Amino acid sequence: MKIALVTGAYKGLGLEWCKQLSNIGYTVILTARDIEKAKEAALIMDPTLTKVIPKALEVTDEHQIRELVDWVNLTFGKLDVLINNAGINSGTRAKGDKELAQKNLSLEILDATEVLNMFHINAIAPVLVAKYFKGVLAKAEIPKIINIGSWLGSISIKTTGGNYSYAVSKSALNMMTRALAFDLVKENIITVVVNPGWVQTDMGGGKAALTTEQSVKGLLENVLHKITLQDNGKFLQWDGSEHTW
Ligand SMILES: NC(=O)c1ccc[n+]([C@@H]2O[C@H](COP(=O)([O-])OP(=O)(O)OC[C@H]3O[C@@H](n4cnc5c(N)ncnc54)[C@H](OP(=O)(O)O)[C@@H]3O)[C@@H](O)[C@H]2O)c1
Repeated sequence: MKIALVTGAYKGLGLEWCKQLSNIGYTVILTARDIEKAKEAALIMDPTLTKVIPKALEVTDEHQIRELVDWVNLTFGKLDVLINNAGINSGTRAKGDKELAQKNLSLEILDATEVLNMFHINAIAPVLVAKYFKGVLAKAEIPKIINIGSWLGSISIKTTGGNYSYAVSKSALNMMTRALAFDLVKENIITVVVNPGWVQTDMGGGKAALTTEQSVKGLLENVLHKITLQDNGKFLQWDGSEHTW
């Protein structure tokens, strides 16, 4: 039995990861900061809540991460796959408050607290989650960590100003992944960062090019199923090709 844990998973790409992993036989730990939202989402996939298991996780809460590690250790004794999916951008952070969004986007009113908050959730939290789950991941046969990055984190393709908080946090996630990959390879854990494409979610909006189903199907077939230790530390596209840094 393979076990996967997905962060930020009650909606959007995280929810789709849970659906597709569950459909191919994984036992999935569906986490969200609001346990009620996690339960509601898990119940739709698994009324017994034994194959899709809801758990509370605010990814910046190290105490909560450690409690979850203990529970996974006691319950399953291993973790095969960690999907570090939880993330925010200026739009999801601001929830309609245009000035708050601009504090993340625009040089004129850029706000350090806002930048640091996004940095914490998008770049630091995935590494902390990996840090605490390292031991239980190392007990799986071929453990894998997939960090959900973005093409907006690619420095070489950025040709416009603005969007500081999000772009910088995802660039940092690329470097965090690289460092993590070289540390965790000692435990035979394969770690990559991926661009899911532009996807129809609350973050991506309705006009995005891909459905969540298409993006996650691509990531499952071309990344999760195919990566080996040779791919450790790579920045990959949802179609499995390498992304420019
Ligand atoms: N959609 C795209 O086009 C696109 C493109 C490139 C990369 N991505 C990345 O894909 C990932 C998923 O995004 P999405 O498009 O599915 O967006 P989404 O629908 O807004 O989902 C984001 C999820 O992350 C959760 N989250 C945010 N902060 C959290 C925290 N501190 N602790 C725990 N959970 C937290 C949210 O929960 P709450 O509702 O509780 O905040 C939500 O469940 C993100 O990392 C995003 O940056 C998306």
